[in-house]
Parts: sequence; C-alpha cells; structure tokens
Amino acid sequence: MKLGIIGGTGGQGLGIAIRFVQAGEDVIIGSRTMEKAQAAVDKMKDLLKEDVPNVKAAENPDAAAEGDVLILTVPLAAQVATLKSIKECAAGKILIDPTGPLETAIGGSPMKCLYLPDGAASEKTQKFLPEAKVVCAFNNISSGALMNFTEPIDCDCLIAGDDPEAKKTVGKLIDKIPDIRTVDCGPLERAQIIEKITPLLIGLNIKKTCKDAGIRLTGINPECRLY
Ligand SMILES: NC(=O)c1ccc[n+]([C@@H]2O[C@H](COP(=O)([O-])OP(=O)(O)OC[C@H]3O[C@@H](n4cnc5c(N)ncnc54)[C@H](OP(=O)(O)O)[C@@H]3O)[C@@H](O)[C@H]2O)c1
Repeated sequence: MKLGIIGGTGGQGLGIAIRFVQAGEDVIIGSRTMEKAQAAVDKMKDLLKEDVPNVKAAENPDAAAEGDVLILTVPLAAQVATLKSIKECAAGKILIDPTGPLETAIGGSPMKCLYLPDGAASEKTQKFLPEAKVVCAFNNISSGALMNFTEPIDCDCLIAGDDPEAKKTVGKLIDKIPDIRTVDCGPLERAQIIEKITPLLIGLNIKKTCKDAGIRLTGINPECRLY
C-alpha cells in the first residue's frame, strides 16, 4: 500500500512517515515544494542511517495522486488551501486526518482549542472532500514520540470515521507501529472530542508534567476495536 503524506515535512508528518517506512510500507513525503520534500526524505535517511528504498519525495498533488491512502499533516490554518491542492486526487481514497483545531491558528495558545463552525477539523475536511473517506487519527500521538523511532510508542491511537471499512484499513495500518493500540471511537462526529485531547497533552508537555504525553484507555474489549 502506498501512503501519500500531504505536508509531510513537519514533525508530525515526518514522524508518521518514519514509522510507516520502518513498518515496510511505501511512503511518499509530500510538500508544497519538491526541494522541501526531498530534504525531508534525506533527513529521514540520515536518521535511519540507511538508504531506505520505500520512501520518496513529491509535491503534494503528486503524492495525493500516487498514494492509495493519504495522510494530511498540515496546521489548521493551512488545511483548506492544502485540501484544495489535492481535491481531485483524493476522491474515493481514505484520508487520515490528525489536524488539531488549536488556537495557534489565530495567534493564540497551543494549549487551547478553537471551536469551529463545522464541528471537528476532520469534519471540515470531510465536508471539503465529500468523496474521500476521512478518518480522524494520530491526534493524540505526539511528533516527539513518533520521531523517537528506536522506541515503541506507549499510547492508544483514538480513531473516528463514518466508513467502517476505511477505519478497519486505518486501524490495521496504525497497529503496525510497535505498541500503539488503535481504538475505534465511532463516527467522525467523535473527532470533536478526540481533537480536544491534543491541547490537553500539549499543555502537559509544556508544563513538563510529561514528555511526549499520550493516553491509554483501560477496560477495552478487544472485540470493540471493530476490526
Ligand atoms: N506535532 C505534533 O506533536 C502533533 C500531534 C498531534 C496532531 N498534530 C497535528 O498534525 C498537523 C501537523 O503538525 P506539525 O507539527 O507537523 O505541523 P507543522 O510542522 O507546523 O507543519 C507541517 C507542514 O505543513 C506545511 N505548512 C505549514 N504552514 C503552511 C501553510 N501556511 N500553507 C500550506 N502548508 C503549510 C509545511 O509543509 P511544506 O512547507 O513542506 O509544504 C509544514 O512542513 C497539525 O494539524 C497538528 O495539529 C501534531
């Protein structure tokens, strides 16, 4: 399966890219410019200290066209412009969306949420790309934990979406990352809750209560993970 990471040059995108490259998936790192995408690929190769053949660079629309599953890793302020640039290529595809509705989008605090008229940021993505199958995921996994690629990730990954088959595919994919346990939280509307955990975790990191804070749910019935 080819994964197209749209805006994959930041901490979250590169961290997700590294983890999926390690899991043996084919990854395309997307950017607004080929130069930045290639620099991210080179950085990954430097970090992994090997010439990994299963990663390449592309501009965002090409990454979206070639990817079977897309992952959107840009800040909220860049969400609509980025989606516009890939709209035609995303139809019918799964799009994983970790976008955090943080107040930073309007110059505010990363520890506070923005309340969007469309509900969750992922719901906004789904509204903008009605033909894509949007799955909210990775919101509560920090870039620090993802980039610390020699260590497993001691976190649950809460996901939500309206297409059961898409969630199955995403769950199986994310479970390839050592120690992450994916938990299906229900329809995409649940992203309104999941996304609000991100500023909470950022706050704990900033206050140094935790480093790369994440969450683990207890009492999970394995059959209720839904795949
Ligand atoms: N970082 C975390 O720990 C974390 C955790 C959970 C969720 N998230 C979510 O994941 C997403 C990505 O986070 P991040 O920390 O990786 O973000 P980031 O480093 O700020 O940005 C990621 C990439 O987005 C593109 N971008 C930035 N500003 C843009 C603009 N104005 N217009 C178009 N593209 C722009 C850039 O790619 P190019 O310049 O290469 O095009 C940039 O490298 C965010 O929505 C965040 O809320 C992050």
